[in-house]
Amino acid sequence: MKSFLFLTLSGIILSLWSPVVLGCQNPSTVTNTPQKDWWETAQFYQIYPRSFKDSNGDGIGDLKGITSKLDYLKEIGVTATWLSPIYKSPMADFGYDIADFFDIQDEYGNLDDFAELIKEANSKGLKVILDFVPNHSSDENVWFKKSVARERGYEDFYVWHDGKKDANGNRIPPNNWLQAFRGSAWEWNEQRQQYYLHQFAVKQPDLNYRNPEVVAQMKRVLTYWLDRGVAGFRIDAVPWCFEVKADENGNYPDEPLSGFTDDKDDSSYLRHIYTQDQPETVDMVYQWRKLLDDYQRIHGGDTRVLLIETYSGLDYVMQFYGNKTTQGAQIPFNFQFILNGNKDSEPKRYAEIIKMWLDKMPAGKTPNWVMGNHDQRRVGSRYGKERIDIMNMIQMILPGVSITYMGEELGMLDGDITWEQSKDPAACNSNPQIFQKFTRDPARTPFQWDTSTAAGFSTNPNTWLPVNPNYVDVNVQNERNTKSHLNVYKQMVELRKTDVLKFGTIQYGMVGNGVLVIKRTYKGKSYVLVANILGTPDTVNLSSNTRLNISGSLRVKIPSVDSMKQVGASINIAQLALQQYEALVLES
Ligand code: GLC
Repeated sequence: MKSFLFLTLSGIILSLWSPVVLGCQNPSTVTNTPQKDWWETAQFYQIYPRSFKDSNGDGIGDLKGITSKLDYLKEIGVTATWLSPIYKSPMADFGYDIADFFDIQDEYGNLDDFAELIKEANSKGLKVILDFVPNHSSDENVWFKKSVARERGYEDFYVWHDGKKDANGNRIPPNNWLQAFRGSAWEWNEQRQQYYLHQFAVKQPDLNYRNPEVVAQMKRVLTYWLDRGVAGFRIDAVPWCFEVKADENGNYPDEPLSGFTDDKDDSSYLRHIYTQDQPETVDMVYQWRKLLDDYQRIHGGDTRVLLIETYSGLDYVMQFYGNKTTQGAQIPFNFQFILNGNKDSEPKRYAEIIKMWLDKMPAGKTPNWVMGNHDQRRVGSRYGKERIDIMNMIQMILPGVSITYMGEELGMLDGDITWEQSKDPAACNSNPQIFQKFTRDPARTPFQWDTSTAAGFSTNPNTWLPVNPNYVDVNVQNERNTKSHLNVYKQMVELRKTDVLKFGTIQYGMVGNGVLVIKRTYKGKSYVLVANILGTPDTVNLSSNTRLNISGSLRVKIPSVDSMKQVGASINIAQLALQQYEALVLES
């Protein structure tokens, strides 16, 4: 357990337009190397198991495949990997529709394979984190079947409602709530003669968190996997767990229109003030944190962590960190680089995005940086493939936790998935004209290992989603041996192990036309990231932004792939010429 609450941003100096000092740094504490718990400077790596490595030639990734590639995770410096769901599932939402929370999907393996994965991972010093999907189950889950049948104890396991009658006496859903995947969030069940709530696909009924038995059951799920050696959980779709309480007649209010779109089936047609971001959900996360802490007290071992998936407003997100009296999640995902920037963003936007999180984060907490995941377009496709190194370098030089989605270290790009090839319910529930706006398939194409069949992902050329044809260049084997995104990433990971990046202060700001500068300093030693966000060359004076306080001599430590600069070369801080999209880590 961590003993030291220095582990924070105390002493971190934010310097964007005005210097802000967070917390007071007692000079005597800096002279000793502070302690950090394992996760506070960890490099997390998300594996989408279906697409990582197929061990049995069925064209679908599996657990044995992951186990066979653990050395790769070591090679790229991963501390802990979080796996998208591997539980039994009819795969309506590729595992986010769970039919049995206590067992493994056959095509991924079985509990023995999972035990083997944990054992092998732990023997290599790697931690494994599972996806915990609390908001819903599959309609094929036995709990749902029992609830449909009104079996004793399960009557209210899900959110049921009789529905309403329209003017002509036809049955209609209870209200206007919309599912995330288009259309009403209510589905009629013939057998039970009621509607059930599903905020995601029809096959993903929402569990009823106002039923204490549901809360207890889901805690059993957590304990079950803790007993099997997981180091924590990434918690799925957290803001959806609780809905507003029904009124005295058992009715739920309509949600107001957002004004964002005229598309009445699109979930963003409504403002989700009754179906998301409820205060009870925050308290639920605190309860899960307590469960993890209690587990550690009883069973020992390292701190178990919670990673929270939420795209909500920052004031809500920050509550997940906990409050004065109660611990929350260690890592409420910071999605600001996903939500607020793209290839068209102005350079100063990058600094603003960093500031958004650091300014809002409660004192004493650890920041984290997420650039992509299985629900988003690839980083190189969103920010432009010329900025792949820039994005990885930003993520790695910033303080705290880094979270990489598999393949971003290689600069994998979106696969081109046609309507006919689409698998994702978010795409398939739409139509050929608009599916590109919703599809998440492009970021889920198989991992690119080498130039053999199916990019080395499978021996089967027919993979569940097609391999991106750019695998001939973009693959692990190739990138190991050349100047590559992978090698830049690996060097950044090495740098993250230094005291400067673990414990250092941060100053950041802009110079020149569009050059982002991030400086980390510890005990007089600095690393400075200089990244030309723009597609035009620029010559900058690094000391021109006095708040960054850059002086003295600096040498090139890590250049981006296309940089012509040599490692070790001295640079002239008053006149640093940068090519388009060039990024450098400099050292003092
Ligand atoms: C989360 C998952 C996403 C899934 C949804 C419903 O947002 O990341 O893939 O479809 O929750 O479980």
